[in-house]
Amino acid sequence: MHLIAPSILSSDFANLQSACEMLNKSCADWFHIDVMDGVFVPNITFGMPVIKSIRKHSTKPFDVHLMIVEPDKFIKDFKDAGADILTVHYEACTHLHRTIQKIKTEGMKAGVSLNPHTPFHVLEDIICDIDLVLIMSVNPGFGGQSFIENTYNKIKKTKALIIEKKSKAIIEIDGGVTDANARKLIDSGADVLVAGNYVFGSQNPIETIQKLKSI
Ligand code: DX5
Ligand code: ZN
Repeated sequence: MHLIAPSILSSDFANLQSACEMLNKSCADWFHIDVMDGVFVPNITFGMPVIKSIRKHSTKPFDVHLMIVEPDKFIKDFKDAGADILTVHYEACTHLHRTIQKIKTEGMKAGVSLNPHTPFHVLEDIICDIDLVLIMSVNPGFGGQSFIENTYNKIKKTKALIIEKKSKAIIEIDGGVTDANARKLIDSGADVLVAGNYVFGSQNPIETIQKLKSI
């Protein structure tokens, strides 16, 4: 069964507690939390204090997606703030293997994210060391962008690599996910779907999450 990870990036930041309570009640599996630094991506969101504050109101795993340069500097801080899964960008890590080891040493699951232009095969020598591959299906930085169609091919190729290497990594898709592409994403090999605007922009987010879950 696939997992749903609503992205709080599209929630009302003045009412984060109610967003958390809604997600607790819903059939969402994880909270997807987008951290942006204004350097790796052209936008700034929030950091550790906000994550720590919402942790108190949340009952589900925190899937933290770091869109920042030099993530190594903050791995322990994100653990202390409440991250369960910590995903870094391939493009932001010169010593990716070391970064992954540090995340795991802190007791978190380790993920690697690929920008739309980054080919799947760069993961060949790291795929057995990671728990999750986050395939960006938009250019990172903003919610509400449109889905990039090449993602389906990329999922299939990543899945084939995972099988070939006997890796336990799961595949998460992030950007432009709706009920129109969810089925095809799962059929292509996706295990986790992130959805921001589609959930928080809807009339009834709980029903929207249910719809994505039962697709
Ligand atoms: C984009 C973020 C996404 C974003 C997805 O850089 O990584 O998690 O919140 O939002 P939607 O689902 O609106 O494309
Ligand atoms: Zn994200």
